[in-house]
Amino acid sequence: RTEPLVLGIETSCDETGIGIVRGTRLLSNTIASSMEEHARYGGVVPEVAARAHLEAMTPAIEAALAEASVRPDDLDAIAVTSGPGLAGALMVGVGAAKAFAVAAGKPLYAVNHLVGHVGADVLDAAGGPGHPVEVPTIALLVSGGHTSLLHVRDLVSDVELLGETIDDAAGEAFDKVARILGLPYPGGPQIDRAAAGGDPNAIRFPRGLSLPKDLVKHRYDFSFSGLKTAVARWVEQRTDAGEPVPTSDVAAGFREAVVDVLVTKAIAACRDRDVPRLLLGGGVVANARLRDVAAERCAAAGIELRIPALSLCTDNGAMIAALAAQLIMAGHEPSTLDFGADSTLPV
Ligand code: KG4
Ligand code: ZN
Repeated sequence: RTEPLVLGIETSCDETGIGIVRGTRLLSNTIASSMEEHARYGGVVPEVAARAHLEAMTPAIEAALAEASVRPDDLDAIAVTSGPGLAGALMVGVGAAKAFAVAAGKPLYAVNHLVGHVGADVLDAAGGPGHPVEVPTIALLVSGGHTSLLHVRDLVSDVELLGETIDDAAGEAFDKVARILGLPYPGGPQIDRAAAGGDPNAIRFPRGLSLPKDLVKHRYDFSFSGLKTAVARWVEQRTDAGEPVPTSDVAAGFREAVVDVLVTKAIAACRDRDVPRLLLGGGVVANARLRDVAAERCAAAGIELRIPALSLCTDNGAMIAALAAQLIMAGHEPSTLDFGADSTLPV
């Protein structure tokens, strides 16, 4: 089979991502983000995100086509994220994708956002030839909207959800704790920076769902809301006592608690499932400590660690196009046009 030319549309959260790939080769990856519009609310506002997608959609598609020197006619297929994510945001992408597919007379593939993150691994950010996803792999996906652990035996036919957060996503926890510390949104990079000058062992914050009794039912699940509350209480007690809050130490202790749980559970999954590989995805992969701890512990456990370029880890349309290209090459039929947006779409 020849390598299909696919345009992918991603609107599950606050990024309007349009990507074009030919098989495993990345041709363009344009992102329009409404992050700044959400900053004053301290988190993504669904209604604001949906409106921003609507405004950004056509210019972003035009920009991606121009960057790849592709005309709509040249495309073999359109791909779109149909879930999981914010319902209103997803609907804008699905509506645009259907309209584009019908107008251009192209097949349309509805794909799962989380599996898309795994699909990103086929691409080379520099535009090189790429390669199939190396399977089996455990995938740890951590962003502002999701925290999931997957067991991938085959990208297009066998992806199992092992666990996910039962409350806040990891990135959301970073954003909320940044707010407690008076740092601006998005909080992840701010906490990362503050933590660099702090002592990760000065304050020991709780590791969610890590006690032996929790592990029975929630071995691969995550919880960050208790951690957030613990940080809030710690800061409050200091403030009430009239003592200064050591921002760097709090940030470092908090970051250590999040990273420790993420990596511990991911490696446990690799061991339990006898999988020699761990793939990271999502915007929290930008975290310096997560990268370091994952690298250290994977090396010690003999696990190969794969981290796509950050531009392919954060939400983007290229990963959606890449996954659809894999589906096409595996002989999958396109979606019928009656699918909707599913905010809780399972893998
Ligand atoms: O994948 P992403 O760009 O999209 C959304 O989920 O919206 O992830 C953004 C999230 C935000 O919560 C942000 O605070 C977090 O990723 N993030 C980080 C870092 N950089 C971004 N979290 C921890 N450390 C970082 N360096
Ligand atoms: Zn994502």
